Amino acid sequence: MNHNITIKKTENSRLSSVDFDNLPFGRLFSDHMFVIDYIDGEWQEPQIVPYGTIEIEPSNMALHYGQAVFEGMKATKTADGKAMLFRPEQHSRRINASASRLAMPELPESIFLDAVHTLVDLDKGWIPPTEGSALYIRPFMFASDHSVGVRPSSSYKFMIFTCPVGPYYAKPVKLLAETTYVRAAMGGVGEAKAAGNYAAAMLPSLLAQQQGYDQVLWLDAKEFKYVQEVGTMNIFFVIDGKVVTPMLSGTILRGITRNSIITFLKEGGYEVEERRIAIDEIVEAHKNGTLTEAFGAGTAAVISHVASILYMGEEMILPPVEEREIGPWAKSQINGVRSGRLPDAKGWLIEAGQLKGAAVEV
Ligand code: COI
Repeated sequence: MNHNITIKKTENSRLSSVDFDNLPFGRLFSDHMFVIDYIDGEWQEPQIVPYGTIEIEPSNMALHYGQAVFEGMKATKTADGKAMLFRPEQHSRRINASASRLAMPELPESIFLDAVHTLVDLDKGWIPPTEGSALYIRPFMFASDHSVGVRPSSSYKFMIFTCPVGPYYAKPVKLLAETTYVRAAMGGVGEAKAAGNYAAAMLPSLLAQQQGYDQVLWLDAKEFKYVQEVGTMNIFFVIDGKVVTPMLSGTILRGITRNSIITFLKEGGYEVEERRIAIDEIVEAHKNGTLTEAFGAGTAAVISHVASILYMGEEMILPPVEEREIGPWAKSQINGVRSGRLPDAKGWLIEAGQLKGAAVEV
């Protein structure tokens, strides 16, 4: 692959100042970023430049109408020091699906992959060495026309930056099943990784936090009856020894971690059902003692155990994590494959830089 990415390296690397034992999530950025513009129906010259500010006009369309999509992916380091990407092509496909839903152009997969490989290879010194930590990769695209007419922008900026991160949730999360606000309705943009989905979740999440909960568990927009997702992750339950997770219905994110976990579980001999799950079923299973585990799965969150769920004023407290089997197993699988501790039976890992084209340094 050769897209002739022009590389301008930083002269002031900040790498030596990083404390890899104390990583805040998403506030520390690696030395370089990737940028490519879409103008007049064509992708322009791709570049990698030092991480820094960009200039936009106040009339930038994304600021007004939210035409913006993003991805979250991770690079990890194996024990022998190799920088590995996990299923990068899936992230390319998903951001293109998100972009299509918002009438934005698709970035060819070959450019996306070349960009991620080249950027991560260049900044691989920023990948934290410990299992469970990673270099979080944030590809995103936004409208860059200067206009307040309501229509799809004609120009776009696609960028990627990276940040070394530890676990997103430090401890098991307390969820509040939301019965006032909704995240996504059928026909909406719930399946897209659109910036606006996260904006809409801010107030309900803040209100949940003010009541002592970490995140919202979203229910369907029509009846407030069926479980959707958590917003930062997809949700899994273990009922009667069987793993159940909401099916992909158009209103929840098509989680790549979700898909990977389902695959690991099935191949590990666990029974997994993707189907509609009524919140009443969760309440019932908790009451009769068959709800033994719940966990979220996402790129940032990896696997985050659920400590409790509040629904209609009743708190369902789940067994302590030490007594759980499946969530911890799934977490160890995904972290183990990524760190090289476990074999990569599916061929999901690829070394960063392996697809690199002839990038030009200036
Ligand atoms: C991710 O898991 O990468 C996400 O995008 C969730 C969140 C941190 C925004």
